[in-house]
Amino acid sequence: MGTEKWKKTTLASFVLGFLTLSLSSVIALAVIYPPSKPVAADAPAKQEEAKFSEPIIPSMNDVPAGPQGEAITLGYKLVNETNTALKEYVGNQLSCSSCHGGAGTDKTSSLVGVTAVYPQYNPRAGKVLTIEDRINGCFQRSMNGKPLPYNSDEMRAMVAYLSYISEGVPTGIKERPWVEKNYVKNTPTPNLANGEKLYQQSCASCHAIDGSGTGANSGPALWGPNSFNIGAGMGRLGTAAGFIKRNMPLGEMGGIKQGTLSDQQAADLAAYILSKDRPDFANKANDWPKGDAPQDVPYETKAKKAKQP
Ligand code: HEC
Ligand code: HEC
Repeated sequence: MGTEKWKKTTLASFVLGFLTLSLSSVIALAVIYPPSKPVAADAPAKQEEAKFSEPIIPSMNDVPAGPQGEAITLGYKLVNETNTALKEYVGNQLSCSSCHGGAGTDKTSSLVGVTAVYPQYNPRAGKVLTIEDRINGCFQRSMNGKPLPYNSDEMRAMVAYLSYISEGVPTGIKERPWVEKNYVKNTPTPNLANGEKLYQQSCASCHAIDGSGTGANSGPALWGPNSFNIGAGMGRLGTAAGFIKRNMPLGEMGGIKQGTLSDQQAADLAAYILSKDRPDFANKANDWPKGDAPQDVPYETKAKKAKQP
């Protein structure tokens, strides 16, 4: 091969190689970043949802300085220490974290993204609830207490905190895939004696043999005067069984690991706990005013219950 010819060939292959490379990077880029094109009205929401399959929860160490941060920090404290910090509004020995573990940031009953999905229709109330209404639902039932005034610094702080842990989740998102529902569908017929046995084996060390608990955030009360009232979501067999199956015992106890109970065992435990006395909820008969109360609601409502599925 003559030097000239060699030079030409090399040049040509360089040019060709360069062209090929740039072409393929253009193609690659086009694949990674497809050109924006006109989309159907619901498409942007779908893209957003895909991005938030698991939001990053901001740390309490990153709370901004100033009044906004002070409200968030107060809200966090109120969610964790509800029965002591908001005594006048709480009628039992629970905190919000007793059910919404890690102040709503862990998977027990996640509140991450909750401010993005309210206002929301609520069948139990038969109307659209704001986030404040929904918080007060838990105050009156799960906390067996009184509604927190909407116009109080404490309510604002709770909403500020819940908004903080919902940061980045798009308003109006339809599904929160990271929120797993605590519910056992078609709950098996429970065996109370087995529930009692399992309770003593794997639950009593934290929740006390008489269900009175060992502390709102170490083992909250499960029945008796310091527990949730009959109008609480946890008072339904399907919800209690679902919560227990997914979350209890915390860690491992009496040879049973968290997350390994069967539907039957969870139902036995839930039924045992719910067979015990707990505070009443005065307004319960007005629940599900449209007549769609689920079958496991443990009280009569003025409107009829839903048909058996
Ligand atoms: C005894 C258990 C329990 C306690 C204590 C409790 N909650 Fe709840 N909370 C529930 C259950 C059960 C639900 C219904 C979850 C569902 O819809 O699957 C719920 C739902 C909620 C929701 C709506 C969640 C959603 O995704 O729609 C909010 C907000 C909420 N709770 C806030 C609070 C706050 C704030 C406190 C403390 C003042 C509190 N909860 C205390 C059990 C509890
Ligand atoms: C190692 C201690 C521990 C053990 C054992 C344990 N729990 Fe819990 N339980 C907790 C804590 C702490 C919470 C508060 C939520 C959280 O932090 O996850 C809780 C919350 C609950 C709640 C919701 C709050 C309430 O008061 O209603 C129920 C129901 C419950 N546990 C049932 C059970 C059952 C049933 C068992 C046995 C299978 C059990 N737990 C075993 C520590 C424990």
